[in-house]
Amino acid sequence: MVNKHRPLSPATFVPADLVQPAVRLAVSGEAALLNRTTAAAAERMFAGAASAGVVLTLASGYRSYATQTATYNGYVSSRGRAEADTASARPGYSEHQTGWSFDIGDGGGACSFQPCFAQQPAAAWVKANAHRYGFIVRYPWMEHPVTGYFYEPWHLRYIGVEAAGDMHRRGIPTLEQYFGLEAAPAYR
Ligand code: DAL
Ligand code: ZN
Repeated sequence: MVNKHRPLSPATFVPADLVQPAVRLAVSGEAALLNRTTAAAAERMFAGAASAGVVLTLASGYRSYATQTATYNGYVSSRGRAEADTASARPGYSEHQTGWSFDIGDGGGACSFQPCFAQQPAAAWVKANAHRYGFIVRYPWMEHPVTGYFYEPWHLRYIGVEAAGDMHRRGIPTLEQYFGLEAAPAYR
């Protein structure tokens, strides 16, 4: 469980079992890696989407502490720190560093990592079906007071089929609420 109140420990943690899933990749190198469990689940989910005629691509998977530092600093340079914190985790606080999370694209690109991605078939499909493969949309619409981040219809987190199905059935939007943890809108 990683959020603005719960950093990785150690901050430079590296998963021991990073692998590249056999899915359509929009990135290469480190960013194409996931931990072994998440990679296997991603392969099942991408195949399920393909069966429904929906293209998913792996647009950003594992990020090392060093990569997250560069990513976050890029946001700070272009938008300032306050706005950066609503979109990008500080180094040591990103789910991407755990290997349990990744961002999807749809093979198109115009809406990649943009608000309009929410209206694309890929986003609609994962919102309705990702739980069947053990994934949740980790930063839902209007849940930033709980999660600390604005809507990211592309960011998925593996929690297992049982937990993801349970959250879906019960209509619980965030992992914080599911685990009974305090909201983590900001760093402390
Ligand atoms: N965009 C998500 C919050 C991250 O940087 O991990
Ligand atoms: Zn992400």
